[in-house]
Amino acid sequence: MYKLVIEGGHKLEGEVYISGAKNAALPIMAASLLIEDDVIINNVPNLEDVKTLSQLLERLGKKVEFSDKRMVIRTVSEENVEAPYEITKKIRASIAVLGPLLAKRKKAKVSFPGGCAIGPRPVDLHIKGMRILGASVRVEHGYIIAEAQKLTGGLVNMLGTNGTSVVATENVMMAATLAEGTTVIDNAAMEPEVVDLANFLIKCGAKIKGHGTNTIVVEGVKNLKGCEYEIIPDRIEAGTFILAGMMTNGEVLVKNCEPNHLTEPIRVFSEMGASIQILSKDTVLVKGRERYEPVNVTTLPYPYFPTDLQAQLMAVLTKARGISIITEKIFQNRFMHAYEMNRLGADITIDGNSAIIKGVDKLYGAPVMASDLRGGAGLIIALLGAEGVGELLRVYHVDRGYEKIEDKLSKLGAKIKREKTDLI
Ligand code: UD1
Repeated sequence: MYKLVIEGGHKLEGEVYISGAKNAALPIMAASLLIEDDVIINNVPNLEDVKTLSQLLERLGKKVEFSDKRMVIRTVSEENVEAPYEITKKIRASIAVLGPLLAKRKKAKVSFPGGCAIGPRPVDLHIKGMRILGASVRVEHGYIIAEAQKLTGGLVNMLGTNGTSVVATENVMMAATLAEGTTVIDNAAMEPEVVDLANFLIKCGAKIKGHGTNTIVVEGVKNLKGCEYEIIPDRIEAGTFILAGMMTNGEVLVKNCEPNHLTEPIRVFSEMGASIQILSKDTVLVKGRERYEPVNVTTLPYPYFPTDLQAQLMAVLTKARGISIITEKIFQNRFMHAYEMNRLGADITIDGNSAIIKGVDKLYGAPVMASDLRGGAGLIIALLGAEGVGELLRVYHVDRGYEKIEDKLSKLGAKIKREKTDLI
């Protein structure tokens, strides 16, 4: 096990390069199951989640070669259709193989992902979508088993009790590319990663319209061909570095990012009093300050404030000049980091799906524990802004979604190092 040892109180200054988007890479990798030809994906981030999904693809008969941001996926066999629990428990996005396996191999057996530290992770929308396309779906011995000799287009409404779903939209869109006839996905997720997946599929010969709006129309085709594709920058990683710069009153040039995907976060950060300048189509300059104004923010599907930046924003708000409220509308229980931030001297109270954050003058370094990926990133930001030395345990959560985070932060002047630990 590893931990990150962080000495807080150092300004971040300099340039940081943003990696490719995890949440675009994963479904695009899964989409390779729709395609027999070679698929080449560029700008792939080197992350634990990417490694885990590569392992799953290899189990499913693909050969995955990955070096220096470039991934080549080849087909060896199209026989296996089973995604086992030992993999789906590590990476919930592995449910994204359901639609491609069903559409290409006529059957999919995907272990039910279960709940996790940020709350229940239901899959009803995925199942509903596959059924509307004509599959028979049953849940047996912890597996979702979907079968269909052929899929047929249909009208899929993605509106669940908690709004729309990103990966369920992607699953239905992928399956529909090879279905007979037209599929309309209503209340579709509009996240840039859904758009990126659609653009990849279109490059492979799929007929998709409306991606980026809440109605996606897919006209099925007989088969898809291979292509070479470059994935978009990671907006959550970019937002994380902007907030890290803000927390330390630093001056950070965030390069290789896509500012258009961060419109709402940038509006919120500016309202807090940060200076955020968009210098070019892929560069943002953030200039921090000592204290920020409090804000009230609700996490919602894109284009609103992303739940994946909630913990990192909370870290900065712990030292704001007043009371902020964050309401979490996507995942209940996504507040574990708040209790850890309180160990550093923050004053956060959780009331249902809201966190009430009373700004304090100072945070103090202490050992804290990550219990999920983004919560871990939030705790790193809190430690960067704390006085003295602190530690982040269970750093493996952070490694799932951030490429070399301590290297990138060190280059910006943070005092951070990775050390082995016996503490788990
Ligand atoms: C994706 C992202 C994740 C992000 C999340 C919300 C990927 C690989 N992961 O996850 O980083 O935090 O979007 O922006 O892209 N729901 C249902 N039924 C379902 C599916 C989901 O009720 O069948 C609910 C969930 O419990 C949640 C909400 O819908 O409350 C949104 O979840 P969803 O968009 O599905 O998240 P993911 O696609 O898993």
